[in-house]
Amino acid sequence: MSLQSPNITVRVVAIEQASPLIKRFTLQAADGGQLPAFSGGSHIIVQIPAASGLLHNAYSLLSSPFQLQQYQIAVRREDASRGGSAFMHAHVAEGDILQISPPNNLFPLHATSGRQLLIAGGIGITPFMAQMEELQSSDAAFELHYAFRSREQAAFVDEQAAFVDELAARYGAHCHFYDAAQGELCNVAGLLQHMAEPDHVYVCGPQSLIQAVQQAGAEQGIPSARLHWEQFAASTSGGVAFTVVLARSGREIPVAAEQTILQAIEMDGAVAVDCLCREGVCGTCEVGIVEGEAEHRDQYLSEEEKQAQNSLLICVSRARGSRLVLDL
Ligand code: FES
Repeated sequence: MSLQSPNITVRVVAIEQASPLIKRFTLQAADGGQLPAFSGGSHIIVQIPAASGLLHNAYSLLSSPFQLQQYQIAVRREDASRGGSAFMHAHVAEGDILQISPPNNLFPLHATSGRQLLIAGGIGITPFMAQMEELQSSDAAFELHYAFRSREQAAFVDEQAAFVDELAARYGAHCHFYDAAQGELCNVAGLLQHMAEPDHVYVCGPQSLIQAVQQAGAEQGIPSARLHWEQFAASTSGGVAFTVVLARSGREIPVAAEQTILQAIEMDGAVAVDCLCREGVCGTCEVGIVEGEAEHRDQYLSEEEKQAQNSLLICVSRARGSRLVLDL
């Protein structure tokens, strides 16, 4: 049985250059109706008709969960990627029709009587934008700690007002900004030191920031059930080219250096594989290994499972060697 719900046809109704590298796309249902409800932290999968074939990229929804006439996503141009984000930047125009998946939330807020501590780095601010709408509307206690390289590089700067100023105006004392160009650094260990028993911490951004939070959490004995993170697939993609073999048919599929196994299988079209997050966190794309070894890059399997080499998550993990035979 497929886990994937039918796609939604949407129209691109607005595109803004949010920063030199980031565009914000506003999407509405092509039939003019209301889009499916979602909660803060949800993402959608956008089908991108790139020159290299149909790509599927995951993007967090940053628009308000209380406004279902439209969705908004932010797309950072990744020149080193296989072309999904570059295609979105160069070729998708207002009025275009796209296919998207229904929203799915793998990075939800957890109910607590304590504080919600949100730590964002760069484009990692996106899932928190919808979450802050929810937190603000329910009068919850929360703090945003947002680190970026410079105000000009921070997502969503526009001609009228810097995005960080918009955030400050909207969420006031909830916001704390760290502008690296001004020498301001986010002291993650210091933040976690002041966590009380019911508080939860959420981090989204580059791997280095996530690791800093994980390390500080471990050193301070914070239970993993109160630490939550979301990482972007772009930081785990790419490597050396290899070949996957589908054991049930013997079909051989080349996987290019900047392609994931999942992308290669989707482009080949011979078999369908369920996937929800495409970022190595949900576990739905787990596939058995018949022969060969995986270079695991996911956040789902335990260290023991990774060492056992019985399966891998094909949305992010790759082959260790030139050939990998999969139970497909
Ligand atoms: S699709 Fe979620 S782990 Fe691969």
